[in-house]
Amino acid sequence: MFITFEGIDGSGKSTQIKLLKERLEKLGKRVEVYREPGGTPVSERIRTLLLDPSEEIEPFAELLLFSAARSQLVAGKIRPALEEGHIVICDRFFDSTTAYQGAGRNLGGIDWMMRFHDKVTGGLIPERTYWLSIPVELALERRHERSGENQDRMEKTGSVFFNRVVEAYSELEHRYPERFLKLDGTQPILSLHKQIWDDLLTRQEKSVGTRVTG
Ligand code: ADP
Ligand code: TYD
Repeated sequence: MFITFEGIDGSGKSTQIKLLKERLEKLGKRVEVYREPGGTPVSERIRTLLLDPSEEIEPFAELLLFSAARSQLVAGKIRPALEEGHIVICDRFFDSTTAYQGAGRNLGGIDWMMRFHDKVTGGLIPERTYWLSIPVELALERRHERSGENQDRMEKTGSVFFNRVVEAYSELEHRYPERFLKLDGTQPILSLHKQIWDDLLTRQEKSVGTRVTG
């Protein structure tokens, strides 16, 4: 089973992923967590480059670098883990590229981006994507509390950019209601965790795929 988390920076993805991983592991499940960009030596080096605030990167070069990191991660880690029957949770996946590069950087709409991602990932699509939706201003506050003034290259883009990102997530939710679930990320941490857990159990009842429990 392949699950991804999306949302603007500071929306609570890592917090929810940690809780979900712990809960699944308590049930004896093998869980692998990756964050994008990253997860392989090549992808981590691309990450360093992409987040370095002293670099200037052209939008299209940025799209290709995020995608290069993903291609490497899918082939090197995600596919092998899924083939072993493990549960894979990813902190961001191709929807981030659709939102940040496609919409944020004005590089292309959903249809174009999805055809591109299909090539990059060899057709791999998450079974469930949780979008932690929070206002841009709240995300900024949380990030400041977390890391003070140290912003990475992507975080330095202004709120107009982040508003386009949020709009794109909203479009994805409407386009892919079976996969893409919007959650109100302003709710308490444990309440969000419960919603995610309940949703996974409901999906498990409906599907014959990898079981979450039992
Ligand atoms: P992300 O991985 O999306 O960047 P984090 O999980 O690191 O976000 O959360 C950013 C900050 O917000 C952290 O300090 C975290 O403790 C806090 N946080 C996460 N979820 C919530 C929540 N539901 N309510 C209040 N604070 C939260
Ligand atoms: P990271 O610190 O991992 O994210 P977060 O702050 O959400 O925990 O930083 C990754 C940054 O890269 C984040 O600003 C989102 C951005 N990004 C893209 O622009 N496109 C992508 O395809 C991906 C995966 C991330």
